[in-house]
Formats: sequence, C-alpha cells, structure tokens
Amino acid sequence: MEELQIIGGSKLEGDVSISGAKNAALPILCAGLLTSETILLTNVPDLHDVSTTIKLLSQLGSVTRKHGQNEVSITSNNIENLKAPYELVKAMRASILVLGPLLTRFGEAIVSMPGGCAIGQRPVDQHIKCLSALGADIKIEHGFVIARAKKLKGTLIRPDVITVTGTENIIMAATLAEGETIIENAACEPEIVDLSNMLIKMGANIKGHGTNRIIIKGVDKLHGTSHRILPDRIEAGTFLCALAATGGNIRIKDANPYNMLATIDKIRLSGVNVKQDNGNLICSMSKRPESVDVITREYPGLATDMQAQFMALNCIARGTSIIVENIFENRYLHVQELNRLGANITINGNSATVHGVDFLSGATVKATDLRASASLVIAGLVAQGKTTIEQIYHLDRGYENMELKLQKLGANIKRATNRNDE
Ligand code: EPU
Repeated sequence: MEELQIIGGSKLEGDVSISGAKNAALPILCAGLLTSETILLTNVPDLHDVSTTIKLLSQLGSVTRKHGQNEVSITSNNIENLKAPYELVKAMRASILVLGPLLTRFGEAIVSMPGGCAIGQRPVDQHIKCLSALGADIKIEHGFVIARAKKLKGTLIRPDVITVTGTENIIMAATLAEGETIIENAACEPEIVDLSNMLIKMGANIKGHGTNRIIIKGVDKLHGTSHRILPDRIEAGTFLCALAATGGNIRIKDANPYNMLATIDKIRLSGVNVKQDNGNLICSMSKRPESVDVITREYPGLATDMQAQFMALNCIARGTSIIVENIFENRYLHVQELNRLGANITINGNSATVHGVDFLSGATVKATDLRASASLVIAGLVAQGKTTIEQIYHLDRGYENMELKLQKLGANIKRATNRNDE
C-alpha cells in the first residue's frame, strides 16, 4: 500500500493552483443522467471519488470519456441499468446522488443503502422523505433503496435537517417533475449553486439556489451543455492551514475567495496575512500561529470539512483552543493520530480541547478519512523528523496531486510503497 513520507520543517513558498471542487463535480457528473444529450465538463478534479462516479455512470449505461486530465464528457442516451450496486456505494456514499436523476427521468432507481461510515452514521432518511413527498413510492429491501414513480409531482418540501447531497438530489429530481417544487431549509453550499447553474444551462428553471429556499419549476426535457467546475474551497483552505502551521509565503491561484470567507476570517485570526488579488489569495505567515476556536456549521459557517485541518494547526499554536463539531457525530478520528505526533488534545462529546505544544515529533500514523488525512499532512509538515502516513487512499479520494503541489511549494514530502504490506 502507498504511504506519504514527510520530513517536517520546511516553510511553504511559491504558487499553488486549486483544482475543481470534488463536492461540485460529483453531483454535476450525476446530473449528466438527466439528459440524453452530451454534457462536457472542464476543471474536473482527477480524484478517486470522481473515477468511482464515472465507473458508476458507465455501469448504468452512460458513455463517459476523458479528454485530457480534467475534461470529461457524459452521454446518457442509452441507460440500460437503473441499479447502483453495493460495491460502488460502499466505496463512495455520494453514489446516492444518482437516486434523484434516475428516478425523475426513468421512473425507477435502485440504489444500495450506504450504511455508516468513519465520520458518523450518515443516514439517507431525508433523501427518502423528500423524494417520497414528490410522489415516489420508496421501499427498502435487501439493503437497497427501491424508488418508483410514473411522474414526480412538485410540492413544498422541508427536510428536517440541512443536507447537502439531500438538497442536490431533490433539486435534480424536481427539474423534470410536474409543476413547482419549493425546498425550505435547503443547504446553501457553493457546490449546490454550481450544480444549479449547470442545470439552468441544461434548461432547468431554478431560483433561489444559494439561499435556504429554492424554487424549481419542472420542465419536460433537459439538454446538453458544457460547464466548468468551480474551484475547491476546501482544498484552498487546506493550503491556508498548512501555511499557517509552517510559515512562508504562498499565492493560492484559481481560488474563489468569496466562497470561503469563514475560513479566511479564521485563518487571519491565527496570524496569516491574506490579500485577495483577482481570484488569487496572496498569503504570508511569519510567526508561531495563535490558537483559534472553531465551531463547524452549515454554509456560510465554517465547514466541517475544514475542522481537522484547523485542529492540526491548533496543535502547534500558541494557547488553547476549543473545537466544536456540529455536523457529524464522530469526526474526531484524527485526534488519536495527532496525539501520537505529540499533540495535546482531549475530546468531550462533540467538542475537543487543543492545548498548543511547542513542537510535534514525527511518527507513523494512519489516515482514517479524507479530511483526517489532510490534517496529518499538515502536522507532518511541521513535525520534527519523519512522519509516515499510511492508508493514504483516503487522501486520494479528495485531493488532486496533494504531494506534488506541496513539493512545488518546497515541502519535503514523497509518496512511497510500503513493501511490508506485500
Ligand atoms: N443527515 C441525516 N439524514 C439525511 C442526510 C443527512 O440525518 O438523510 C445528517 C447527516 O448525518 C449529518 C448532517 O445531516 O449529520 C449533514 O449531512 P449532509 O447530508 O449535509 O452531508 P452529505 O451531503 O452526505 C456533504 C459532503 C461532505 C460534507 C457534508 C457537510 C458531498 C459529496 N459530501 O455530505 O463532504 O462534509 O456535505 O458539509 O458533497 C468531504 O468532502 O470530506 C465530505 C465528507
């Protein structure tokens, strides 16, 4: 198995380009199922979760082509299978995003139940509740969600919790439903806005995306289009936290600062100087970071997907910080690994107290989920000596060329194969 080996202590210097957003690319790829015409996507990040989604679409019968590293086309004019199998759904929970498009266009969808995952239980009850409200007949049998509807019918929908992929599934389903759907308590994430913008280019009638009340008027048919995926605000935020920890000067290119204001505000409190320049972030850090308290919230609050990276930074910051995780009940698996590197973190329910220490010391640690992996990379970049991160397939699910981008910034990091596993 592959691992990352990092020798800590280098400051980060230079330019880094941000890739397309994973969490926009996944629903947008699935939206290709809504039309028989071709969708051409650019700035698609080259990541494991994207490959899994392309594999799933191909199994359903879409023709997917890669044109270069970051361009993908999807044509779904010959869908012959309406079932998302357990093997793919267990590899990637976002596979649930085919449920809405298949159901609304073909009148049926069978998707394996995702089950729990490392960061929490993550049920899909709200996806089911809201698609049922649109008139689908949904049952769960033999571990599959089986949904059928001759024609979905628009209505007023209010998920009990704010859910990102749930909102995306409802929007996609409502685009081809009869009449008007209003989603109250909708998620407002920029990735939902990006999906909606693409659906509008396909002929959908959507208003209010980016707010918690989205109105969709169903249309008979959607058509092909091309779309550039928006920049990954979590990847940009991860580089900001890395800089805050190591010090140095970096220019984060192709970011969209307006989608990550909560992260920028927080990182400034840690001592990083951040200036915006035409979509780029010019960032410098020249001292030991200050501890920053973190409370995760739905957008526009501070993203749960940034919690682990801020925790890594707090490990070596001056002072003590409190971190409160409000979105997922078990998103602290990185804590014991950070403590193995010498951090001083204690957990009490959904909050963690981080007492900043003067230094971390390199060790072998295990990545447990995607953002946990990113936090270990940040810790490894500042730890004394060598840090080896195992199970980095978690990192590869959501970061494009993380170690190559860090090498370009001067970090001493490399990917290696652990021969002991073979
Ligand atoms: N929830 C329910 N029932 C549902 C759906 C959600 O109880 O039917 C709960 C969840 O258990 C959780 C909360 O609602 O406690 C929010 O979950 P949400 O549905 O918003 O999460 P998601 O859509 O499964 C997306 C991202 C995650 C990100 C979360 C929160 C994608 C593909 N995934 O997941 O990204 O953490 O929103 O912002 O968009 C990551 O990139 O590392 C990642 C985990």
